[in-house]
Amino acid sequence: MDKGRYSIIFSSLTGNTKKLADTIRAVLPSEDCDYFGAPETAELHSEMLYVGFWTDKGNADSAVLQLLSKLRGKKIFLFGTAGFGGSAAYFQKILDHIKQSVDPSNTVVGEYMCQGKMPQSVRDRYMKMKAQPEHPANIDALIDNFDRALSHPDEDDLERLRKIILG
Ligand SMILES: Cc1cc2nc3c(=O)[nH]c(=O)nc-3n(C[C@H](O)[C@H](O)[C@H](O)COP(=O)(O)O)c2cc1C
Repeated sequence: MDKGRYSIIFSSLTGNTKKLADTIRAVLPSEDCDYFGAPETAELHSEMLYVGFWTDKGNADSAVLQLLSKLRGKKIFLFGTAGFGGSAAYFQKILDHIKQSVDPSNTVVGEYMCQGKMPQSVRDRYMKMKAQPEHPANIDALIDNFDRALSHPDEDDLERLRKIILG
């Protein structure tokens, strides 16, 4: 099916969201791609935009939020990664938060999120916290989450994304 011209615009500090962007790029017809890369240099000609973010304080990263605030009359597929996973409700909360930055003249045609590994410095910080007598009650849960995140995005995450994109 001809879905028309599109751009894939994404932020990725440590490569997790880039894996999703590469996956989307690989399944769409390359001759219809107007732009693949960072928000700062994106030209916004395509009607269909795949917009990828990493989660920063429960919202999209600031470069993506800035991009979204500029968009009018686009079709938008939102995709992103977050360090905390395991709950569809958590992902939905982030996506709902992000959609508040999308002007109603646009249509969010789809969305996808999965977990993404975090830097080792985060685990080191958790371990230091745990060594203190007064640490957060959920510190073991935070460490477990960190360790679960290490393998993500994994092949299952990417396969689910492919299915949604081609669906
Ligand atoms: C400054 C900072 C803030 C973050 N805030 C959150 C957050 O609020 N919630 C969350 O689930 N993950 C948070 N993370 C984790 C990242 O969203 C996650 O590791 C993501 O997969 C990184 O994507 P990237 O590899 O494409 O940069 C944060 C990471 C950083 C560096």
